[in-house]
Amino acid sequence: MKIYAHRGCSGTYPENTLAAFRAAAELPIDGIEIDVQLTKDGKMVVIHDERINRTTNGKGYVKDLTLEELQKYDAGSWFSEEWSGEYIPTLDEVLEIFQDTEHILNIEIKSDIFPYVGLVDKVINLATRRGLLDRMIISSFNHEDVQKVCHETDAKSAIITSQIYVDIYDYARVIGTKRLHISLPSAYRKMTTEALRKGSIVYVWTVNSLEYAQELQKIGIHGIFTDYPERMLKELK
Ligand code: G3P
Ligand code: MG
Repeated sequence: MKIYAHRGCSGTYPENTLAAFRAAAELPIDGIEIDVQLTKDGKMVVIHDERINRTTNGKGYVKDLTLEELQKYDAGSWFSEEWSGEYIPTLDEVLEIFQDTEHILNIEIKSDIFPYVGLVDKVINLATRRGLLDRMIISSFNHEDVQKVCHETDAKSAIITSQIYVDIYDYARVIGTKRLHISLPSAYRKMTTEALRKGSIVYVWTVNSLEYAQELQKIGIHGIFTDYPERMLKELK
C-alpha cells in the first residue's frame, strides 16, 4: 500500500509549508499531496482552506488577496513558534523541492467552493514546463475539473469524494478515470468493495492510525494519505 504525505508532513510541521514539504522530500515514501488555489492576481498558491484565517496570522479569502499580500503573513506560528518564518508557498516553490526526487505529486485542485477558472490549465502548463506531468496525479472534489484533465491531457487524475455512491466505478469511468480518493468512513462502504472488485485504484484520506492503515491494507486499498508519513513508513512496511 502506497504512503502519501498529506499536505506534506502536516502532523509534525505546519501543513502546506516549505518546511512540511522539505521534511516529506527526505522520506522514502511514495507521494505527496499538495492543495492548490489561485490568488487575486492569478498565481498558484499552496494552502488548504479558502480563507487564510486558520493557518496564518492574517484574515480573508485567498481569492481576494494578491500573492505579495498573502506571502506577508506568517503560516507557521499558528502551529508552533519554531516555524514562525514560514509563509504560504507558490506551487512552483513546492515543485522545486521535488524536482529531482522520485515522489509522485498529487496536486489537489481546490475548486469545489470557488471555481478558480484557469487553475487546471495553469497546473498542467507548470508541470509540463518542469517535466513533472508524468509524476503527477491531479485530483479534485470538483469533478468537472477532473473531467477536463481527463479530456484535455495525458495526466493521471482522480476524483475525490466523501459521498456515498451506488456505483462509483461507473461514475468515475464516465468522468474518465479509475482513480478514487475517498474519505476513511467511505472505505468501509459497499461501494468501495465493489469498486475494488471492478478495478478502481482506491486511495483513502486521512489515515493517521496504524490500526486503520493495517485494516485498509487487508481489504486491498492501494494507498493512504497520512499526516504522519514517517510513522506509517516505520510501522506499516
Ligand atoms: O486529497 C485528499 C484529501 O486531502 C482531501 O481532503 O480536505 O484534506 O483536502 P482535504
Ligand atoms: Mg487535500
